[in-house]
Amino acid sequence: MNTVSTEIIQEYLDATRVGIDKELDRLLPAADHFPPSIHQAMRYSVFAGGKRLRPILCLEAGCLLGGDEQTLVRLGSALELIHTYSLIHDDLPALDNDDYRRGKLTNHKVFGEAMAILAGDALLTLAFQVLAEPPVASDRKARIVAMIAELAAASGTVGGMIGGQVADLEGEGKPPDAQLLETIHRAKTGALLRASLRLGAIYAGAAEEQYAALSCYGEHIGLAFQIVDDLLDVEESSAELGKTAGKDAAQHKITFPAVYGLEASHRMAAEECERAHHSLALFGERAARLHELADHIVHRKS
Ligand code: IPE
Ligand code: IPE
Ligand code: MG
Ligand code: MG
Ligand code: MG
Repeated sequence: MNTVSTEIIQEYLDATRVGIDKELDRLLPAADHFPPSIHQAMRYSVFAGGKRLRPILCLEAGCLLGGDEQTLVRLGSALELIHTYSLIHDDLPALDNDDYRRGKLTNHKVFGEAMAILAGDALLTLAFQVLAEPPVASDRKARIVAMIAELAAASGTVGGMIGGQVADLEGEGKPPDAQLLETIHRAKTGALLRASLRLGAIYAGAAEEQYAALSCYGEHIGLAFQIVDDLLDVEESSAELGKTAGKDAAQHKITFPAVYGLEASHRMAAEECERAHHSLALFGERAARLHELADHIVHRKS
């Protein structure tokens, strides 16, 4: 990616994030609402500065198919709530034991482990409330139910985020295993990213081939995203990442760099990105933003 296109996508991401943050602020209970400790803990992690990539992907998929932007921002916020819950729990001492996230101390470091567990639980629960309560026309209710089912599956144990997290933890210290590695990455990260595209597609009433194309794109950027996350852990500084670098090797995680080395991992991320571009063929130029986002995912530095 050249400097000009990097700047353009960055401007777009920054502007879009403002709208998503506003919606999240509206959806989360006020910090002083009883019992204030949990609401402060929830808000602390949500507003610590995430990239908001999942709501942005949901928004772009939905807008591509003519969905209403404001509703998509609301529905996309549910993905960010699930994602933030997964990060709070991922950082707990019992899981990855991390002290920094999004450039700040992790939730349990500030609020204690009990509150961090509950804040994660609360964000998870709120996500489904947000999905179930949007002001949509009655003929769209079936779509909302389909979105809830997709988000639950993507977050769950069968090929979803929790299943991936379990395999990731149980994989620590195991010998390099390419097949297990791909299974872990597709589940722990890929499923929610694919769901981001699918939620936008479902809400906007995608035709079968449009849904399949967006799912395929989501799968490829999902895998690319976690390959790059593994690479960043090796190649970038903690300051750049906002989380402690070098943790994967220290914890003997099964990662792409550990199994394939740096060069091959970069190549594989680029190949996944290429496949993501191809899956958008039927949308033509209308999918320009999704093409840019795929490139951004592979070239990002944090
Ligand atoms: C980090 O996700 C955790 C993974 C799934 C690899 P992001 O890199 O999207 O984190 P934020 O939301 O920008 O903090
Ligand atoms: C976490 O993967 C994926 C989640 C489901 C949260 P990582 O453990 O690699 O994420 P980071 O590197 O801590 O952000
Ligand atoms: Mg982890
Ligand atoms: Mg982690
Ligand atoms: Mg990581």
